Amino acid sequence: MAVQDIRRVDLPPLPHWETTPEDLKAAIREIKPALRARIAASGRSVEEVFAVLEARIADTVAEIEAAKARGEEIWPVLDYADIESGTVPAEQLEKLRRRGCLVVRGHFPHEQARAWDASIVDYVERNHFFENYRGPGDDFFGSVGSKPEIYPIYWSTAQMEARQSERMAEVQSFLNSLWRYESDGVQWFDPNRDSLYPDRIRRRPPGTNSGGLGTHLDPGTLDLWMTEAYQKAFRHLFDGTIESYDPYDAAHRTAGPTYPGSTMCSAFRTFQGWTALSDMEHDQGVLHTVPIPEAMGYLMLRPLLSDVAEDDMCGVTTNQVFPASEKWHSLLLRAVSGIPDVRAGDSVWWHCDMIHSVAPVQDQKGWGNVMYIPAAPWCPRNEEYAASVRAAFADGSSPSDFPAEHYERDWDGRFRSDQLNDIGRRGLGLG
Ligand SMILES: [Fe+2]
Repeated sequence: MAVQDIRRVDLPPLPHWETTPEDLKAAIREIKPALRARIAASGRSVEEVFAVLEARIADTVAEIEAAKARGEEIWPVLDYADIESGTVPAEQLEKLRRRGCLVVRGHFPHEQARAWDASIVDYVERNHFFENYRGPGDDFFGSVGSKPEIYPIYWSTAQMEARQSERMAEVQSFLNSLWRYESDGVQWFDPNRDSLYPDRIRRRPPGTNSGGLGTHLDPGTLDLWMTEAYQKAFRHLFDGTIESYDPYDAAHRTAGPTYPGSTMCSAFRTFQGWTALSDMEHDQGVLHTVPIPEAMGYLMLRPLLSDVAEDDMCGVTTNQVFPASEKWHSLLLRAVSGIPDVRAGDSVWWHCDMIHSVAPVQDQKGWGNVMYIPAAPWCPRNEEYAASVRAAFADGSSPSDFPAEHYERDWDGRFRSDQLNDIGRRGLGLG
């Protein structure tokens, strides 16, 4: 038995809640001292461990600020052709790993993406979506006005063609392979099989005024500290071995429960992503990230410091997105970086734990249209969710992670099961 394993046996236990605790504040008051005690068993205090990570992140923030000052592009950009042929240069791969986000140029031919966009318009108009639209089904993405920006549409031909395309599978495998998906004799996910996580589309018209979306992250809320699986996934943050924390380690991330909530994602995603269906300029209300994957460690440890109230996790609570705020995370927010100009057919990706936001825009120039398609590799968690996806696909329902709006059930032109190819069937767990 290795020295590290012997020490692990002596770690103070952590309480855990496999479903949402009834008394959230009481649970927070219980978990915080338990986490601090476990970290302290390493011989270093929370403050000391946090300082190690903070120093490392501060260096990265300074590097990003310097690169911005030199006018350099912060987001890595790769050509699809290089991903497909396996000829991405090593230094570009290294930059991708470090930044945790990516623009894929020419992921789909420009004309293909424009045709998909037009076919979505045809699909929703033919089925009288705007006449029947009942307003936002959730409050987080809710927008003012009669026409939505986010269309709760999941089963158009365009979306399904993209989800089951070879080109999408190629990029998803490439991104999945940045992760460590085998350890301790377990294959945590299959990097070469995606689960076709169905999400919505956004069509934001020219002239839009939008307040954007504040900095937040999506992998979970209090469950990130409180379930046994996440406690194992973030073990290096919680046992004082911060130097071993690897944001690309999938161990224990792909099977555990998540607390339900209006913004939850049941699936495990290595990267979130969208495919552009219109050209978008970088200053027209586009996506930004804090391009530092290890920032997750900062977010997880920050609430344990003594200046945060004992029943507060820096504002994180269930049923709301995990906020990243000036009050608690100002160092991280200095690194917020937007995507470059993109063209229809390019795709945009960011590590699932990454802080992101959508910038506000006034009188937007051009359209801002995207299909949300992440990389959600086949794993126990995604296999379980795939059962409900299959049912939703069969009758055109909204998938169970989303509000039960079900617009497409009797729509003409919905993607049919006989249009599935091998990738589509495998993704839905049908073959
Ligand atoms: Fe988000």
